[in-house]
Amino acid sequence: MRVLRTLRDLHAWSDAERLAGRRIALVPTMGALHAGHAALAAEARRRVDSVCVSIFVNPSQFDVRADLEAYPRTWEADLARCRAEGVAAVFAPEAEELYPAGHATWVEVQGLSEPLCGRSRPGHFRGVATVVAKLLAAARPHVALFGEKDFQQLAVIRRLARDLAFDVEVVGVPTLREPDGLALSSRNVHLGPGTRPQATALVRALDAAEAALAAGERRAAALLERVRHEIAKAPDAALDYAELRDPETLQPAGLLLSGATLLALAVRFPREGAEPGAAVRLIDNRVLQPQPPTEERT
Ligand code: PAJ
Repeated sequence: MRVLRTLRDLHAWSDAERLAGRRIALVPTMGALHAGHAALAAEARRRVDSVCVSIFVNPSQFDVRADLEAYPRTWEADLARCRAEGVAAVFAPEAEELYPAGHATWVEVQGLSEPLCGRSRPGHFRGVATVVAKLLAAARPHVALFGEKDFQQLAVIRRLARDLAFDVEVVGVPTLREPDGLALSSRNVHLGPGTRPQATALVRALDAAEAALAAGERRAAALLERVRHEIAKAPDAALDYAELRDPETLQPAGLLLSGATLLALAVRFPREGAEPGAAVRLIDNRVLQPQPPTEERT
């Protein structure tokens, strides 16, 4: 497995793979790799010949400096995981490599970046879109894979790939979960014995909304009320947002659910063992599918 540190080396690696007739997949990550990241790499291996995982804690997507500093870094374990998944190359640059002095070009995906996490984290998706555009430009993969856990991020990246005419297939991979349903996330390490059991509130809220929908509830306000009720059962949880939106455009859903509708959640818990006020922010989502009403038979 190659470890590449510069854009020039990544470019050269990509050229050589393409020249040898191999198809390339890129799996962008910020490291602290877990089984969810491994699932992306495994799906990539199924689709192409050579997989590149990028590991880069992208400073421009952190709106809060303390969050960037607290981001977990597990380099040796990350390399071992990549090797185990049959990854061909790891791209792990220094920050100056992607943001040299005088860096002045930013990629902004308007509209899709604004609601949900964009509202709570100003500038976040500008940072994500910029770094992903750079990675796509340098690695020139045939396929790039992203998790559906970060649903809005996936929507932003699909649009950026289309609008900037990257010749890449963007693939979404279903969310990998702990046995109790908590979505795997690098941020879960900041949960402690007090908050970890409460963190299942997110998936329970998604389940509750889905069950209500299956039982015939189509009113958006009533479904969101179910969600808030579930989150409120976790004493330390603070709801950042719970929203129903169109899965393609991310525009707000109507008063009554008709077609497929995204239910997206963000919840903050206190970060155990950290200074007071420090929080760990978890997100989760589900695309709800209202069934058409069964016709009355006579
Ligand atoms: P990171 O949080 O490291 O996630 C890297 C990729 O893993 C993302 O596509 C994310 O959606 C996916 N992922 C995370 N948890 C997952 C889970 N439980 N199941 C399946 N996939 C999961 O997302 C980022 O990094 C960054 O914003 C990045 C795209 C790398 C740009 O800096």
